[in-house]
Amino acid sequence: MKLKRTDWPRLQSLMLIAPFLLAMAVIFVMDTITDYAIAAAVFYTTVILVATRLLSARAVVVLACSCVLLTLVSFAFTRSGVYEVGLVNTAISIVAIGVTTYLALRLVAAEATAYETRERLLRIARVTSLGELTASIAHEINQPLTAIVTSAGACTRWLAQQPPSLDNARRAIDRIVQEANRSSEVIARIRGFTSGKEPQRSAFDLNDAIGEIVSLARSQIDHHEIALTLDLQPSLPEVLADKVQIEQVVGNLLLNAIEAMTTSTNKVRQLRIVSSTTDNGAVRCSIADSGVGFHQGEVDHLFDAFWTTKADGIGLGLTISRSIIEANGGRIWAEANQPSGAVLLFELPSVKRDTE
Ligand SMILES: Nc1ncnc2c1ncn2[C@@H]1O[C@H](COP(=O)(O)OP(=O)(O)OP(=O)(O)O)[C@@H](O)[C@H]1O
Ligand SMILES: [Mg+2]
Repeated sequence: MKLKRTDWPRLQSLMLIAPFLLAMAVIFVMDTITDYAIAAAVFYTTVILVATRLLSARAVVVLACSCVLLTLVSFAFTRSGVYEVGLVNTAISIVAIGVTTYLALRLVAAEATAYETRERLLRIARVTSLGELTASIAHEINQPLTAIVTSAGACTRWLAQQPPSLDNARRAIDRIVQEANRSSEVIARIRGFTSGKEPQRSAFDLNDAIGEIVSLARSQIDHHEIALTLDLQPSLPEVLADKVQIEQVVGNLLLNAIEAMTTSTNKVRQLRIVSSTTDNGAVRCSIADSGVGFHQGEVDHLFDAFWTTKADGIGLGLTISRSIIEANGGRIWAEANQPSGAVLLFELPSVKRDTE
């Protein structure tokens, strides 16, 4: 069992790299058997361009070095043509391989940075709105509280008088009740604000929403060498929900899954997103990872506000996700993944079920 688990990623990387090795072998043969004048070696740049989309930066550099080496070997073994022409073509091919590798890797790195910046911005936006919310609570609640304290002080003084001034004391108590009611209204207003606006429901294909978020996260998934499996049920019934909000949920769950895998010691990084219909006609999405998973008792707290195990986490991603899914008439929950990791699942009502 142990052997299998450690061998699997190696086998996967081999399967991924095999087509590149085959293409390089074909180019090598072409470059060797053809005339010096035919610079077949420039086709190595195509191999490198495709490799930067599928392999890690280190693997691309190793491939590029191998391409340069093969170009030199081809040059040494080519027998026909003008030697000087071969020399120039070999030099051009090597420069082309080098420049292509450098530019392609720079492009991938820039894409990854752009994604990370966007993610950081999202976090900052969340922290900022949290900061604003805290400031507004402090401001709005502070006023009635000050008034309550002042009125309570006045009330004590009216009662301490000889004889006690009961009318004035009653008026002070009325003011305390009024201010306390005002505080409750402020809290009710703030709760309305945090629960967000009413969802703008429309019918849409959940597979499209998943696809859009996955393509946004693609560079991060590749950057962390995560093997992604998309198992999306074809012709899924449309769901009736707020697409932007649901995309926010998928984004939160994807981000958590990526974070759980990058902090895990488990070298196998597998992310599996499945969409399906349930027996009762709802549409289900599950996001399963091979990350750190949950410790005992953690599952009960995942959706609690400000509950986090991350040094830089806020602990609101899942809280917000749950309030969104429930506001859209669905449910969300978590389970342990097998053999390791976590699965987060949510269900939404489908248009089909709603119209039945
Ligand atoms: N896929 C997962 N695998 C393991 N633990 C998870 C996973 N998703 C969430 N958790 C746990 O649930 C906690 C709460 O997640 P949540 O998304 O609400 O907050 P966070 O990720 O810590 O911070 P943020 O508010 O920035 O998203 C996480 O800190 C983590 O411990
Ligand atoms: Mg989170």
